[in-house]
Amino acid sequence: MLKISAPGKCILLGEHAVVYGHPALAVSIDLRLQVTISKQKSNLKYHILDGKLMKPENNPHIFSAINDIWGSNSDMLNINISSEIPASSGLGSSAALSVAITTGLLTSKEEEISLEKISSIAHKLEADAQGGLASPMDTSTSTHGGCILLANEKLGKSWLYSRNFKNKSWEIHSFELHDNIKNVSLVIGHTGIQGSTSKIVRGVSDRLKSNPQLIEDINAIKALTKMGVDAVKKGDVDALGAIMNLNHTHLQNIGVSCNELDNLVGVARKSAIGAKLTGAGGGGCIIALSRNPTQTARDIELAGGRSYICKFGVEGVKIEDNY
Ligand code: MEV
Repeated sequence: MLKISAPGKCILLGEHAVVYGHPALAVSIDLRLQVTISKQKSNLKYHILDGKLMKPENNPHIFSAINDIWGSNSDMLNINISSEIPASSGLGSSAALSVAITTGLLTSKEEEISLEKISSIAHKLEADAQGGLASPMDTSTSTHGGCILLANEKLGKSWLYSRNFKNKSWEIHSFELHDNIKNVSLVIGHTGIQGSTSKIVRGVSDRLKSNPQLIEDINAIKALTKMGVDAVKKGDVDALGAIMNLNHTHLQNIGVSCNELDNLVGVARKSAIGAKLTGAGGGGCIIALSRNPTQTARDIELAGGRSYICKFGVEGVKIEDNY
């Protein structure tokens, strides 16, 4: 039996723009998803997921992973999934699933693996599930852990590899967070509303076609992310907070926020350095950078959200057990 875990993520800056090849910055968080995989001993002709027959329509990521990696004629599998990451909430639960299942299947097949290979296969699974529109942001953060920057150019020693997919390319970097950033807290506020990443990403693409002026907001997110990366490198927490606030405005402009997210962002800002929605939007979560996390979390709860003060920059995908 093989047990794999992979972390969720928070996007600090750049979601949505990153789908169009622009930069984005994310950190892994201490909420993890676990997958266990074993070969079935019975003569069943189908795979079992959480004790039930696995259906492609309910489990597109897992089905594509099995088709792409395991193959159709191999042994039937018994797979179990458990997760601390709330689903469809902008915290990377489907990326963590793609990363963990990819790692599990490659390891079970005794194939040579590298983090780059896991990350690129998992990105393809995410893109398949999102109708082709997906950046490698979530999957590379869940694979490598820590702090991941996707950029348009190679930026020195922190560069890991390039990812080319459907005429777009991203340079993937991993870097150590400045102590000043490590010393502030990241507070997550959950609206309790689930959002479908594929629908929201498609909605942005449709709005960009019908209202080409929105490209200005995508370009502004790109510019802000670049400034945010400099702030993170310098450990300038106040600049990062201000940039997060501005990033949220442009996410509102492209139509991915909602009243519940705006409300949580507003109350979090009373005690936080900066706050914005994180991930695809349309519900899901906000993040707040705070020197007073208990107060920020309390304000989020009083406004009807669920709060979580998270550890960030944690370890990426990990084989927990293999026997
Ligand atoms: C989702 O966590 C982030 C988006 O930018 C989509 C993607 O990068 O694939 C909205």
